Amino acid sequence: MPASTMSAPAPTGAGVFSRMASSRHLLGLEGMSRAELLEILDRAQRFRDLLDGQGIQSQELRGVTVCNAFFENSTRTRVSFELAEQRLGATHVSFSSSDSSTAKGETLLDTLRVVQSMRVDLVVVRHPSAGVAAYLARHLDSAGVINAGDGAHEHPTQGLLDLLTLRQAWKGQFEGRRIAIVGDIAHSRVARSAIHGLRVLGTAVTVAGPPTLLPMGLEALGVECSGTVDDAMRGADAVMALRLQRERMEQGLLASTSEYARVWGINARRVELLEPEGVVMHPGPMNRGVEIAADVADGPRSVVFQQVTDGVAVRCAVLLRCATARAHEVRP
Ligand code: CP
Repeated sequence: MPASTMSAPAPTGAGVFSRMASSRHLLGLEGMSRAELLEILDRAQRFRDLLDGQGIQSQELRGVTVCNAFFENSTRTRVSFELAEQRLGATHVSFSSSDSSTAKGETLLDTLRVVQSMRVDLVVVRHPSAGVAAYLARHLDSAGVINAGDGAHEHPTQGLLDLLTLRQAWKGQFEGRRIAIVGDIAHSRVARSAIHGLRVLGTAVTVAGPPTLLPMGLEALGVECSGTVDDAMRGADAVMALRLQRERMEQGLLASTSEYARVWGINARRVELLEPEGVVMHPGPMNRGVEIAADVADGPRSVVFQQVTDGVAVRCAVLLRCATARAHEVRP
């Protein structure tokens, strides 16, 4: 048997996901059922409660080896995956494109096959190209693949952490709620994952942004488009500001940052349009004073840093889920 097909022992917390964890991969939230989403959120909430209390000091991933392969910059996602792996007792290593042999011309697949050959059980991958996570999942015969953001396609763990933050803010009730997602929808993997998850859970979604940055086909996802931020936010239960990707300006898709802030930015006046308990979200990194005013980012409605904490909890749950599925799929 090739070394790469040998299995890690089942995680000690395997029973938690034994029935539902149907895949060792997490490639996106598209197609995920309500039951699957809620199961991950339930498990993540238990990790979140531990973070607020005694902390997470578990050996549930003892014997599991994880490699974080980042071909694009990251602070939140990479650090929180590393912390989650450490706190669950996994062996973990990380590399980025600049310090790997891809910089010498090795193909992405060869690089990840090398990693798999070292008996790595799970690969967490971020890459600028959409579809890379699915491509690796098709070609790696034993390692599980967790998508940490692939181009403009999906960022499923960000979508899940957004759901966890909203579930807390909304006291567990997704149905009958509405969120406004504002900004560069077309290039946002964050928006795409959030929309898939929120629609499955029964939340209405209104998007608003420059017409050049609204993709086709939003209606097919059950999303409403609004011509102005004010209309999108009026009566909403949350607003999610998306990062302005300044590189789009060079492509002529936007005028200027000051114009963008005036027309599409989330400021204190606009926050007053939300429902009284409505919250302000941002996946980060934030451009303060552009898509979100500094006083809003730091204000009482902001859950921006709560989202970051929820990210550690969600990544614990996702690692456990994928490791459990892998232990059942790949038998020694
Ligand atoms: N939200 C997010 O993915 O942030 P990072 O790029 O810092 O990981």
